[in-house]
Amino acid sequence: MNDPEFAVVEFVLTANVYSEDKTLEPDDLPPSYRAAFYSDGRIERPLTPTLETATDATGVENPWNVVSGLMFTDKDDFDGSLTFTDRGMAEEWFRDRADADRVQENPVLTKYFEGEIEEASYETARQQNRPSRADRAVIDDLLAEYFDEDEEGEMLDLVDVRAPSEIEMTLDDIVLTGDQENEILKIVKAIKHREYLASIGLREIGKLLFVGPPGTGKTTVARALARKLDLPFVEVKLSMITSQYLGETAKNVEKTFEVAKRLSPCILFIDEFDFVAKTRSSDEHAAIKRAVNTLLKSIDEVSLVQDEVLLIGATNHPDQLDAAAWRRFDEIVNFPKPDRNMRSDILEIVTREMDILDFDPAALAEITEGLTGSDLRLVLREAVLDALTEERTTLTQQDLLDAVEDFEERDTLKNMDMIEGDHDALVAGGDLGGGSDGHDHDH
Ligand SMILES: Nc1ncnc2c1ncn2[C@@H]1O[C@H](COP(=O)(O)OP(=O)(O)O)[C@@H](O)[C@H]1O
Ligand SMILES: [Mg+2]
Repeated sequence: MNDPEFAVVEFVLTANVYSEDKTLEPDDLPPSYRAAFYSDGRIERPLTPTLETATDATGVENPWNVVSGLMFTDKDDFDGSLTFTDRGMAEEWFRDRADADRVQENPVLTKYFEGEIEEASYETARQQNRPSRADRAVIDDLLAEYFDEDEEGEMLDLVDVRAPSEIEMTLDDIVLTGDQENEILKIVKAIKHREYLASIGLREIGKLLFVGPPGTGKTTVARALARKLDLPFVEVKLSMITSQYLGETAKNVEKTFEVAKRLSPCILFIDEFDFVAKTRSSDEHAAIKRAVNTLLKSIDEVSLVQDEVLLIGATNHPDQLDAAAWRRFDEIVNFPKPDRNMRSDILEIVTREMDILDFDPAALAEITEGLTGSDLRLVLREAVLDALTEERTTLTQQDLLDAVEDFEERDTLKNMDMIEGDHDALVAGGDLGGGSDGHDHDH
């Protein structure tokens, strides 16, 4: 239901009930309500519903306009607060219109009306409601506690923390191999049953390594998993460990793990994991080595079962990992380049919202051997932009075929650039050869 009048009444009623019942916690408030009431990452009683907070929480632009016609509402012109002149009447009005599905999204009112609105259960509502520790405001408050302003620059380079609500892609947007699906299911179950795992002594669980070429969905899957599980997503970029901030880096790596533990349960994603092996074998600056050693030690000390931190590492270069790096992960998840069927499925998903005449994803999959999910996205983007130059928003299969050909040409160019002595081919008028054998695309 998307009824603004109902939404505003629900909001005012929720604020009143929450202010009275001290056993209710922020986790009982719907996330959008919390967002409206946060101050320094905290929610203080009483909650005063105002025109402004009502708009923030419900998205209704003119809250007073939509409820001013009701007999039981009032507004204070001085502070903009919204009140009920007759609470009993307001509750009756609400109960008459409320359906279980809708109320279930609001644990505060589900508790208040339990038994009065059919099939609404407080316990279920609480379970379904996104917990407050995954809210942006709470995350920001915690980060501010750990890192003062001077350090912010380096921290922003090194870690990126996202609230699950800030993650756009879902697992449904990604085409997975059967193996990947199994691994994801396993980890979802392990998180759910972590107490059981601890009780039987299985503590060494919950460290995954995603391995595969660039553009095969490693980062996207890790993020989508955080969204699915409603967990904050803490991303560490190892290549940002440079001598630029000598001395501070090891400390910041340590802090990152502390933050992850405080944010837990959460996902800690360490991209470019091959960086670890590289620094150990080369004669890097001592400060960098120290940071990497701190990282390895921190990885050993963090645990899904004890700290509720799920660690996911990712690498494009598994060949560069040494034994010390491998043994720190208990599951390896392979991200291969997509096969023909997967390419077809990816094309279907990527084009879901597009108009395409004679669309034949299987035929496109046939001629895109060697392309990753990320490549296919680029191909589609080019086709869309090309069509726009002709003022078209409806594409044709031919547009997509042309875009694949262009992509292969560009790809050939890119590769030639790296092959010594092949520069002749880059001279204008030279044959780029992309179109003739567009089939085999082996790097
Ligand atoms: N299997 C896939 N299904 C759908 N989209 C994919 C797939 N693999 C990659 N992509 C898309 O390609 C882009 C880059 O993927 P990303 O997760 O950054 O790859 P990686 O981290 O492995 O380099 C993302 O927009 C992602 O959605
Ligand atoms: Mg990535």
